[in-house]
Amino acid sequence: MRKLSIRNCDVAGKRVLMRVDFNVPFDRDRNITDDTRVVAALPTIKNIIERGGKLVLMSHLGRPRGKRDDQMSLAPVAFHLGSLIDSPVKFVKDCIGDEVVRKVEALKGGDILVLENLRFHPGEEANDPGFAAELATLGDIYVNDAFGTAHRAHASTVGVNEHFDIRAAGFLMERELEALSNALENPNRPFVAILGGAKIKGKINLIQSLLSKVDVLLVGGGMMFTFFKSTGLEIGKSIVDDDYVGMCKEILDGSRGGPSRLLLPVDCIVAKDLEENSPTREVSSADIPDDWAGVDIGPKSVSLFKSELAGAGTVFWNGPMGIFEKPRFADGTKEVARAIADATSVGAVSIVGGGDSVAAINLMGIAERFTHVSTGGGASLEFMEGKTLPGVEALCDVAEAPCEG
Ligand code: 3PG
Repeated sequence: MRKLSIRNCDVAGKRVLMRVDFNVPFDRDRNITDDTRVVAALPTIKNIIERGGKLVLMSHLGRPRGKRDDQMSLAPVAFHLGSLIDSPVKFVKDCIGDEVVRKVEALKGGDILVLENLRFHPGEEANDPGFAAELATLGDIYVNDAFGTAHRAHASTVGVNEHFDIRAAGFLMERELEALSNALENPNRPFVAILGGAKIKGKINLIQSLLSKVDVLLVGGGMMFTFFKSTGLEIGKSIVDDDYVGMCKEILDGSRGGPSRLLLPVDCIVAKDLEENSPTREVSSADIPDDWAGVDIGPKSVSLFKSELAGAGTVFWNGPMGIFEKPRFADGTKEVARAIADATSVGAVSIVGGGDSVAAINLMGIAERFTHVSTGGGASLEFMEGKTLPGVEALCDVAEAPCEG
């Protein structure tokens, strides 16, 4: 169902309460290390203020668990936003209460006010109706541009909606939904998905559901070892989640003779320990030594994965192939990233999601070579799994919108 777009809402002189996902990483000195999510929200922010809207931005940052924690204040993000748009951005040290109401009332058309971290209040994650009602007093219309948080049914993404007639999607939300829906519903074939990352728990349902949609599913990263174990291979000291060994076996058995091929790495890099200077070896997946741990996919797997990616019509990638934050164990991830970028250059549609994969392509300076870099980690996984995202569901459908869709 198509959702009402902010482009079709009259915002001049109105208070626009907009949910953004400013959940950005910081270093120890409280410097933002990756502002992708703030930059991605700029088109909607600029559009609203250029049309004279009084913009009230709300977001979470980290997981403060319902308590104020200055280490997770949004003040530095508000400041950074001001430098990106080259204009002052106001900030208020709470997201509800008298001072917030006063500051919102004082806004003029074109002003921006950033509220303090929503998750300093337990009512946000609990989707508390009272908290949602207080937030709702701050706007005449509601916009959600926080694709990265659309899988959370929280007060600012879901509860707040019942107080607004106009509930529109921002441009980032629209772009994300369009890119991911196209891949899911109308992919250029062959459709190749490549999934990695250490934890199998958050990906196993996606693996299962993608198997009925893609032509080829490539699995790398730490989760490959749970698959290896399910086939009876020895995995030494490699990371494994024993709770999922049975499910991996079922998936592998079920995929045989099915419409999609599921390919596991045929070799991997193993290390004596996870230190930077630890000795490493290339071994076949069947020969992982007892007291060594797998840290990356090996060169034969890289070639195998590259040959699948080279002919792809659509590629969806989420999760690194090894412990890529350690440069010696990052080759598999880099090779795969380059192969997807090369496939994109010759016509494939490529979508990358998940903090680690996006960090890898940013680090390599090749983000521009992908068709779509998603700002959603969990949200993009849930969407690709076929789940409905509650933050999207709650917005006005074009058909029922009180203004032109
Ligand atoms: C994310 O970083 O994936 C989103 O901002 C959601 O954050 P959360 O997982 O803490 O809800």
